[in-house]
Amino acid sequence: MEIVIIGAGIIGLATAWRAAARGADVTLVDPDPASGATAVAAGMLTPISEVTYGEEPLLRLGLASRDRYPAFVAELEAQTGRDTGLRTDGTLEVAFDSDDLGYLDDLRRFQESLGIAAEVLTGRECRKLEPMLAPAVRGGLFAPQDGSIDPRRLAPALLAAAEALGVRLVRERATAILVEHDAAVGVRTEGGEMRADKVLLAAGSWSGDVEGLPPGVVPAMRPVKGQVMRLRTKIPFLQRTTRGLVKGSPIYLVPRADGEIVVGATQEEMGFDTRVTAGGLWELLRDARELLPGITELEFAEVSAGLRPGSPDNAPVMGPSALPGLYLGIGHFRNGILLTPVSADVLAGALVDGTVPEVGRPFTPDRFGANEFEVTK
Ligand code: GLY
Repeated sequence: MEIVIIGAGIIGLATAWRAAARGADVTLVDPDPASGATAVAAGMLTPISEVTYGEEPLLRLGLASRDRYPAFVAELEAQTGRDTGLRTDGTLEVAFDSDDLGYLDDLRRFQESLGIAAEVLTGRECRKLEPMLAPAVRGGLFAPQDGSIDPRRLAPALLAAAEALGVRLVRERATAILVEHDAAVGVRTEGGEMRADKVLLAAGSWSGDVEGLPPGVVPAMRPVKGQVMRLRTKIPFLQRTTRGLVKGSPIYLVPRADGEIVVGATQEEMGFDTRVTAGGLWELLRDARELLPGITELEFAEVSAGLRPGSPDNAPVMGPSALPGLYLGIGHFRNGILLTPVSADVLAGALVDGTVPEVGRPFTPDRFGANEFEVTK
């Protein structure tokens, strides 16, 4: 079976690897692999903290994906000899003031209502785990099974593993889906055309930009900007991923073994704007310093802004579209890295075996009504 995947972000890369492992002949089309949201993402594996009430199916998907990570990474690292920076030593969510603590208590009740135990910590217990936390921190929740991974290591490892299984990377922009007799039969790129049995559209926020899509096939994607800062430390500063609520404002810090600390993120609906702004960085530093006053001593390394691909209901859209031959792997919004292993399994299952695995069924494209689709361009 010949499959063309439009987009070599984390979802396209992982699906290429998984589909090739099932015997498919896969081509990835992307002028600059892993350069979009994947390159900016911090890589938190914290399924609880990214969902809200009413998003239980998404939480279940996130938990399933988090639990697949160790085996997924073990296979990938064994195949490529590359380290992906996976950490499974738990994450901390802390509250700065009493209102923040009230929110955290609501989160704990929500977790418990779903049968997920949370370890409740006092401020002192939080500081025992993370001594650099401010004395003001009121309390927290410890999630022992959560962790993080470094997307900038994961993506090249996935590409190397995919290429070792025969996946081809075409460094060109896909301009159109080729449609014949009401079915997708391939992709047009800047350099020519390629035919395929199946086409997977996994181009993140840009998924609506490809020509040839009939109306009602791809739900409208909404780019949601996130500004992220990278700092560096030579001395131990933060042991584990720490999320905080500071006077109602969310912040997270993700430390890596090499001393990098990723601080994120703004959430801005500004269309395709990836400018880094003084105000965005100020908000991140302001909240990070409230939680960890010593943070201003760390070396500044990088700032960047990425576009999270948001679907109409903020959940991923995975599986066969209304156009025969065209599959969608889009809309991973705030959860792309977390959802990588499960999405790759769901999409490779749908593409190669022709069935969407059980865990992916709430996320198939047919859940949307007509007004949530883009008009053909
Ligand atoms: N999942 C983190 C973010 O989207 O900022």
